[in-house]
Amino acid sequence: MSTTTQIKTQNKEVYVNNMFTDIANKYDLLNNLMTFGLHKIWKKNVIKLAISENNTLNNVIDLCCGTGDLALITSKLLPNAKIVCVDNCQTMLDIANNKFKNLNNITTLKSNIDEINWNPLSIDLITIGFGLRNLSNRENCITMAYRILKQNGVFACIDLGHPSNKLWKSIYYIFFFKIVPLLGEIFAKNKEAYSYLSSSLLSWYTQEELSTLLLKHGFKKAYYKNIMGGAIAIHIAIK
Ligand SMILES: C[S@@+](CC[C@H](N)C(=O)[O-])C[C@H]1O[C@@H](n2cnc3c(N)ncnc32)[C@H](O)[C@@H]1O
Repeated sequence: MSTTTQIKTQNKEVYVNNMFTDIANKYDLLNNLMTFGLHKIWKKNVIKLAISENNTLNNVIDLCCGTGDLALITSKLLPNAKIVCVDNCQTMLDIANNKFKNLNNITTLKSNIDEINWNPLSIDLITIGFGLRNLSNRENCITMAYRILKQNGVFACIDLGHPSNKLWKSIYYIFFFKIVPLLGEIFAKNKEAYSYLSSSLLSWYTQEELSTLLLKHGFKKAYYKNIMGGAIAIHIAIK
């Protein structure tokens, strides 16, 4: 059965959860290989941009935290912040918890993003790294983020983007649709998972679409910063 057919016939949430459970132990290795180790620099830029918008970021939630790299970077740049990391995949959280074991400002919560019920106006910064694209209901997540952020709170998202330069886009597509599944097959023994990750790009917002959507959900300011010619994009939105 092809990947697309499987996603159509299974519940996407269950499919995505099983996929991340299966690749969790190789997730960091593949991330480093696919980005040549650059993802940590990009993630640092996400937090620096958030801080440039609001320098009192004390209560932080990292949605779809996975193996915890974005939260680790946040705790270095915001040492006084309390960070709660949320993910619905226990295997990913186990790896994150191992990284956090000597830190007392990060806690983890196993939960589906759709079930988060924090108090309104209670959070200063919400981060989400390569997670929004994987959610069945992305707009629910944006609505929830807007509701729980304080006034002037920051929503900071890093994810794949759509390059505007045609030549660069073709090279990027070859990388994503041919090389990434191959890396997944060789190093994670799971070509299908990495084919899914690539195909998820086709139904993902353009940078402009996501900025517009954030404004539509009430954020007073939203903008993006392209990385690697738009292959990756950081979105920042202010409540
Ligand atoms: C591509 S990983 C990103 C991990 C990490 N943020 C990073 O930047 O490397 C996506 C994560 O989202 C989590 N996830 C996907 N759907 C979710 C949902 N509905 N609720 C909670 N977590 C979810 C997955 O378990 C996975 O750990």
